Amino acid sequence: MLFSLCFALVAGSGEAFSLSGSSMRASGLTMVASTEAASVALTSSGANKVVPQEGTMMSSPAFKILDFLFGIPIVHDVMFGVYRKQIVEKAEKMGLAWTDFMDDQWSNLDELRATAEELTDPAVEIPKYYYAPIHAYKDGNLCWESAMEEDLWSKLMIAPLYDNALDGDVQMRQQWLKITGDVVEGEPKKATDLGCGTGLSMYMLDSKWPSLESIQGVDLSTYKLAIAEDKKTMMSSSKSNKYNLFHGAAEDTGIESSSQDLVSMCLVAHESPKWVSESIFNEAYRILKPGGSFTLMDLDKENLEVLLENPFVAAIYKQTEPYMSEFLALSPSESLSEIGFEVTSVGQASRSHRVYVARKPVDAAA
Ligand SMILES: C[S@@+](CC[C@H](N)C(=O)[O-])C[C@H]1O[C@@H](n2cnc3c(N)ncnc32)[C@H](O)[C@@H]1O
Repeated sequence: MLFSLCFALVAGSGEAFSLSGSSMRASGLTMVASTEAASVALTSSGANKVVPQEGTMMSSPAFKILDFLFGIPIVHDVMFGVYRKQIVEKAEKMGLAWTDFMDDQWSNLDELRATAEELTDPAVEIPKYYYAPIHAYKDGNLCWESAMEEDLWSKLMIAPLYDNALDGDVQMRQQWLKITGDVVEGEPKKATDLGCGTGLSMYMLDSKWPSLESIQGVDLSTYKLAIAEDKKTMMSSSKSNKYNLFHGAAEDTGIESSSQDLVSMCLVAHESPKWVSESIFNEAYRILKPGGSFTLMDLDKENLEVLLENPFVAAIYKQTEPYMSEFLALSPSESLSEIGFEVTSVGQASRSHRVYVARKPVDAAA
């Protein structure tokens, strides 16, 4: 009933109604918000709209009431339970075989568990901030469901940006790599993907830069790393041999200083406290060779700010993306420049996703 009430509230606001029926993921909520609803905001009313200052959208009374309601455990569980059912139905209608895919993943659980165990580095201490119940999974990124569903959500949530094409997520990442490729000089040999998750961003790097000889993926979730490792079984050995996954914090990788030609960070910042994103930028700078490039793709903040004017959307976001307001306070270009990077390109990977490419100066101390 409460869910219907919230639904009605959104309808009443006259904006982003479609979002309420189809877009609260677990991990895809962010994407949804930045896809379907964002496009509404940008095309119908966003053009002349005054974008609220960062953070102000979360001070409205409507937001506070909704935030309070959504924070009540039973309301939260019922709401996301209902949504989950709807989303699976929607995915299946779009041709995404959600149930079969998940059945297949669960049937592979023993192997995945063994892989996760192998990849676990007992010396890695999971930072406190990482335990946040992100994406409506109680255990956030530290559970099988979130790892197994990652690729499905990516497809489902990016598709609306590409006329519901199920390869929309691939097209978006291709555009990210194109923007990056336009300013990366030379032929990179060594790359690292920070927050590689199940490998969606990472496994595209070698196709864009065939010169790459070794690509490392680092993530704090051994659940996600296990899924990424499992994908190697479906690759040619010439591809899979280039990739090495390891357990660790992106802000403290332990990778040798000035050793990488290319460092990427895709869709990690919106899940991170501001200070963590900035620490990751610093780490990227440290591990890059002088002249090497860092490429960042994440949600387009301006687009997100317009979207979050809707108190319902903002309240849902807060439940699923605990660090959203921190992300809004992050200024990638400024932070990167302060660290010493030269920002070489800023572009759009999709209408809801922004790319920043930055170079470690050639004359930087190695
Ligand atoms: C939304 S996923 C994106 C994964 C992948 N880059 C992609 O494009 O699909 C974000 C990933 O960042 C990881 N992550 C978040 N904070 C991290 C940190 N401080 N260190 C390492 N990984 C982190 C999460 O575990 C998760 O796998």
